[in-house]
Amino acid sequence: MTQRVLTGITTTGTPHLGNYVGAIRPAIAASRELGVESFFFLADYHALIKCDDPARIARSRLEIAATWLAAGLDTERVTFYAQSDIPEITELNWLLTCVTAKGQMNRAHAYKASVDANVAKDEDPDANITMGLYCYPILMAADILMFNAHRVPVGRDQIQHIEMARDVAMRFNHLYGGGKDLFVLPEAEIEDAVATLPGLDGRKMSKSYDNTVPLFEGGPKALQHAVARIVTDSKLPGEPKDPEGAHLVTLFDAFADAAQREAFRADLRAGLAWGEAKQRLVDLIEAHVGPMRARYAELVAHPEQIEAVLQAGADKARARATPFLKELRHAVGLRRMVASAAVEAKTGPAHKAELAVFKQYREADGQFYFKLTTAHGDLLLQSQAFAEGRVAGGWVKRFKTEGAAPLAEAPVSLAEGVSREAVEAALAALQAHEAEEQAAKASKAAQA
Ligand code: TRP
Repeated sequence: MTQRVLTGITTTGTPHLGNYVGAIRPAIAASRELGVESFFFLADYHALIKCDDPARIARSRLEIAATWLAAGLDTERVTFYAQSDIPEITELNWLLTCVTAKGQMNRAHAYKASVDANVAKDEDPDANITMGLYCYPILMAADILMFNAHRVPVGRDQIQHIEMARDVAMRFNHLYGGGKDLFVLPEAEIEDAVATLPGLDGRKMSKSYDNTVPLFEGGPKALQHAVARIVTDSKLPGEPKDPEGAHLVTLFDAFADAAQREAFRADLRAGLAWGEAKQRLVDLIEAHVGPMRARYAELVAHPEQIEAVLQAGADKARARATPFLKELRHAVGLRRMVASAAVEAKTGPAHKAELAVFKQYREADGQFYFKLTTAHGDLLLQSQAFAEGRVAGGWVKRFKTEGAAPLAEAPVSLAEGVSREAVEAALAALQAHEAEEQAAKASKAAQA
């Protein structure tokens, strides 16, 4: 079975080398695996929670999209879109909000950390905390559940969010699934094999430590400049150096093949100067990053090309999201009212002719079937074969009494070219008619 893998990238900041090695490169590699369908999106609604500077939001959306495209994301193969281009996500966000326990959101790490920081500063616990931050995990659940992702590759800090998404999916399934799982329960995928890249000072490369190596921004000069700042021990040229303790070597390893790693280590042990070692690191990274940087510059100079890619991705994503959300709206009771059909049914035999008709029959294969046709005999719905006529009859009875509700689980298929809505409307009209008949029967019986 195809596994759907989904990853969101919050659009704040400019990607650095650590993002590339730790997230972008492995995600793109994973998206090329067979049997995997990948969804990558700019989590730009999430970015609004962290940043209220419109220019920075806009710039980061552009840079992050350009980075992923320049790094080789194949948008024919994957679905690549901006969260804010999919209105169904915010709509689903609300459906999920209504089944999410407030107590669970109280326990979310990101929110709790902000409260703790306020308390530590003797401030009001809720100072500067928006409802966006509070509800962050629900929006993330909507991102994931909208596409029924099986796997969500994330960092350890996000595991709790995936668990919350599972919980809310379970609750929704239980409340509204009618025995069917509307949502797949997603699983966090923690890539332990993917190294977190050390920064210039040896701590994890992170903007908050100001120890990053830029990926594309600033060109080869900025790369050279950053690498020059990498902290090493103070061994002189000619002195043997221990490669295993040096994070410069870890950075080298992230781009080197086995032979290059071997040679680099041997040369350091033999006394290679740190200055020369840094130049080799620059050359190695530049060999990888240089061609991508050229592509990146081209894209950033033509943002309309990026926009076109994202719009095509949004179309692809919405082809899934739109019908699925329709199903979810139906499940929670936000349904087309079919009063006119009910009224028609009420007005009696003249309109009865317009009602759809169930037919049960047995084929030469000895199996039992049923179908639903319009009053004019056009096929709407066709059942699978049943060994027992009783079972076929049971389904017909359910449709007549429950309307379109059993549609999701019944072993039936829509006839070619017939929309689900048309069938739902026909079933709802039949159900209304049936209810009317039953009521009439009951009142007759009461009078007798
Ligand atoms: N919260 C994630 C992060 O900060 C970004 C994100 C938003 C995400 N929606 C998502 C990740 C859905 C995976 C799936 O890294």
